[in-house]
Amino acid sequence: MNNNEDRNEWGSNLSFILAMIGSAVGLGNIWRYPYVLYSNGGGAFYIPYIVAILIMGIPFLILEYSVGYNFKSSFPKALRKINSKFEFLGWFIPISVFLIMIYYSCILGWDGLYVIFSFFKSWGANPNNYFTSTLLQSTTSTSGLSVFIPIIAVAILVGWLIVWYVSHKDLEKGLGRLSKILVPLLFIIMLFIVIFSLTLPGAGIGLNELFAPDWSLLLNFNIWMAAFGQIIFSLSLGMSIAFTYASYTKDDSDLVSNTLWVVLANCGFENFCALGVFSILGYMSLKSGVAVNQLVQQGTGLVFIAYPTVFNVLGNWSYVLGPAFFFTVYIAGLTSILSTIEPLSFSIQNKFAWSRNKIMTILCIIGAVVSMIYATGMGGTILGFVDAYINQIAILIGVFFECIAFAWLFKCEDVIPELNRRSKSLKIGRWWIFIVKYLLPTVVAIVWVGGLFDTIKTGTFEELIVFVILTVILVGFTILFTVLPSKSDDWYKTKSRIFD
Ligand code: PHE
Repeated sequence: MNNNEDRNEWGSNLSFILAMIGSAVGLGNIWRYPYVLYSNGGGAFYIPYIVAILIMGIPFLILEYSVGYNFKSSFPKALRKINSKFEFLGWFIPISVFLIMIYYSCILGWDGLYVIFSFFKSWGANPNNYFTSTLLQSTTSTSGLSVFIPIIAVAILVGWLIVWYVSHKDLEKGLGRLSKILVPLLFIIMLFIVIFSLTLPGAGIGLNELFAPDWSLLLNFNIWMAAFGQIIFSLSLGMSIAFTYASYTKDDSDLVSNTLWVVLANCGFENFCALGVFSILGYMSLKSGVAVNQLVQQGTGLVFIAYPTVFNVLGNWSYVLGPAFFFTVYIAGLTSILSTIEPLSFSIQNKFAWSRNKIMTILCIIGAVVSMIYATGMGGTILGFVDAYINQIAILIGVFFECIAFAWLFKCEDVIPELNRRSKSLKIGRWWIFIVKYLLPTVVAIVWVGGLFDTIKTGTFEELIVFVILTVILVGFTILFTVLPSKSDDWYKTKSRIFD
């Protein structure tokens, strides 16, 4: 190993677990999950959700961790060692994740502004109008590209500055230390917010609405697709993040127990958030007489429109709850966004022998410049397109090929004895092989076809153009990084190792 890689090591297993939880727990848990749960059968959604955790979340995370830990190298280098034809996949995924990072920086920027707005309730009497028209000047037409919104640009740039500040340092001094502070803080503040929400009058109305199971939906293909989609996004599965983080661990980690902790914390957190969100909506429904199902909005709308609407009727408490809520979302988003730069930066560091400091600085500058597209009037619309493309198309292709590379070509059965020797909890058996080799690739392929079909059916012309541009960028850079020669001889050595 060269010096650059030396500094990429967690100080302790705790840093590793907390950074993984920080990556997993993010906007997906707070704004995405409550809505997904509600709109896909309420209580009945737990069946596909638990199935998705059992056959995808846990087995795939164990797989990603094991291979990352085994190779202790960047994602493309490991894939190259598994099979030299697979190096492209090793670039395709980290670049996709970097594209997620760029739009994530925008949502983080919006949220940063709302931390400040919440002290003054700057959104006024009509939060919907304020968010979409006044702040974002949102339009679906391409003319919006020429409308530049400085306040959004500044908010996004602040996020990039924080990301740069933390990431350009050595791993443990930056990300490791920060995760140890922010992740516990996130859980503590959320605990208070949810407990407070549960005590509001009308909370029961919201919770009844949330959990009222619609069993008939269990036969609907879409709710199964939604469950798998949620688990992939929420656990940041197949994004080479778990892989990269595991490659930074010291020897002798208990990867199976670590996986269980991360899944438990992430899924526990999102269900806990759902209780809070729906208690608040129940309260709102009681106050305004509007039915809960009229108040529920998708993701962005829930955080930036429904919540401010509730804070408007909450009286003085809202001056505590509002900032606390938006601040929590900011922390959750920050610990996730910090994980999205690691796979690509480590891969470049590894192949081209650049220092962590230098590559982080360059990537942050590129990311910050590109993210300015989201500070235009069409930003929100483009963000929706990029999100759909990356999550429903690109990442799923990645997960599918990862199953082939990690489970089949790498022969994942070889790592079982070592995993079990270290595991203080679950023991891995043949069931795991069956899941990662057969069941998972099949399920992912089905979800991918379903998602693609959905996207094409509902997509607009502009969306299609964005998809084409993204494909060109993604494939172009994947080819470029794959063919550029490495500065490290080790890159071309073929030996693979099993936990040596
Ligand atoms: N898991 C994160 C969340 O729930 C989202 C995320 C996706 C983070 C991809 C990193 C990479 O919000």
